[in-house]
Amino acid sequence: MSDTLSGNIDEIIVDPKTYGDEHSYHRAFDRLRRDDPVHWTEPKDYRPFWAVTRHADIMAVELNAKNFLNDPRQFLVTRADEDLLLEQTGSHKFAHNLVAMDDPEHRAFRSLTSAWFGAKSIRGLEEEIAALARETVDRMVEMGGSCDFAAEIAAWFPLRTIMIVLGVPREDEPLMLHLSQKLFGSVGGVDGMAGMVDAFNAFNDYFGKVTEDRRRNPRGDVATILATATIDGEPIGEAERNAYYLIVAAAGHDTTSSSISGGLLALIQNPDQMAKLRADPALIGTAVDEFIRWTSPVKHFFRTAVADCEVGGKQIRAGDNLMMCYPSGNRDASVFDDPYAFRVDRPDARKHLSFGYGPHLCLGNALAKLEIRILFTEMLRRIDDFELAGDPAWVEASFVSGLKHLPIRYKVR
Ligand code: HEM
Repeated sequence: MSDTLSGNIDEIIVDPKTYGDEHSYHRAFDRLRRDDPVHWTEPKDYRPFWAVTRHADIMAVELNAKNFLNDPRQFLVTRADEDLLLEQTGSHKFAHNLVAMDDPEHRAFRSLTSAWFGAKSIRGLEEEIAALARETVDRMVEMGGSCDFAAEIAAWFPLRTIMIVLGVPREDEPLMLHLSQKLFGSVGGVDGMAGMVDAFNAFNDYFGKVTEDRRRNPRGDVATILATATIDGEPIGEAERNAYYLIVAAAGHDTTSSSISGGLLALIQNPDQMAKLRADPALIGTAVDEFIRWTSPVKHFFRTAVADCEVGGKQIRAGDNLMMCYPSGNRDASVFDDPYAFRVDRPDARKHLSFGYGPHLCLGNALAKLEIRILFTEMLRRIDDFELAGDPAWVEASFVSGLKHLPIRYKVR
């Protein structure tokens, strides 16, 4: 390892504060990609792991799902919180859901909903999402030309979409928002595992009631699929069903809202790109990919090696954990031309790793892209002259993070 990477790089990699400041994140990970792209990391409060920082290595690991399993480690949790989790839940993982499963179980569970989340089927939600987008922009109009876009707009729109997917009534949306922010804010954040376990239990109580309801009153939503799902002729277990609800409920909004608010901030900071998109609305598809590459809301997932192998020239031993550093892969100059340039017409934007890769590729990726496209199309049509009205603030969390506050001013057209 080069001298430039000595010092406290291992602590920087796990520090939630690194993820609340994109400049310090990219400074550290640029050095890692250059000097030690598969870096053995031994932080004080965490079990050690390899930080995988280059695009090609992340893809290679994620594609080889036979040798790199999702079980038993999914994301950064301190040793103390791992112990607390074991004490409180009797398990080393807080939920047995898709991101904690491997084949053949993963394939069976994923196939329950994969058709529902496919691009073709998701287009069936277009009208409902467009109505939500109109309502969201109406809200901005009513706010009279200024708002905290991250907290007041971007946080709500994807939440409402996911609640349509799950069939959760409107009056329960604030509860869902609170619980999922508590959950994600706790993972790699400042509240620690206690907040996460509370949120997890509250989710389970809520979705237990949803299951009973859908068995009596089936509908066309994902909740109905989960309430009545069978694998090999047997109903799926209650723990797996609750974990499935949880991943769908929680994975789909803080992530999408981070790309929405971060995408708008990037457009404000790059007025030439805003002008380009306004002049050619057909660029919206590529622009959405660029928002998602640029913001990389999920900062990592882990894999665990089954057998000894090599990654990026490093000898990996069976049982070693590897951290896939997605935002780092998304700034890899061997894949992205001028990776620190934000471009709404970037031809290589689709190569981003923000949705992961391989068999665990984000199940909601088509939905997320549809939502972002529809919202920006509506917003740019009706609102003009976006500008910053204060300092943006970021969530400090090493798993999922993005803008917490984005004060803006704008003119209604
Ligand atoms: C998995 C990112 C939106 C549901 C993932 C993974 C990432 C990710 C990185 C792990 C992939 C891997 O291990 O290779 C994102 C981002 C989003 C987003 C950046 C928004 C911009 C959504 C939405 C949903 C969703 C809207 C709605 C249901 C899921 C599920 C998984 C997943 C269920 C687990 C898939 C599996 O393990 O098979 N997502 N996601 N995500 N995401 Fe998303």
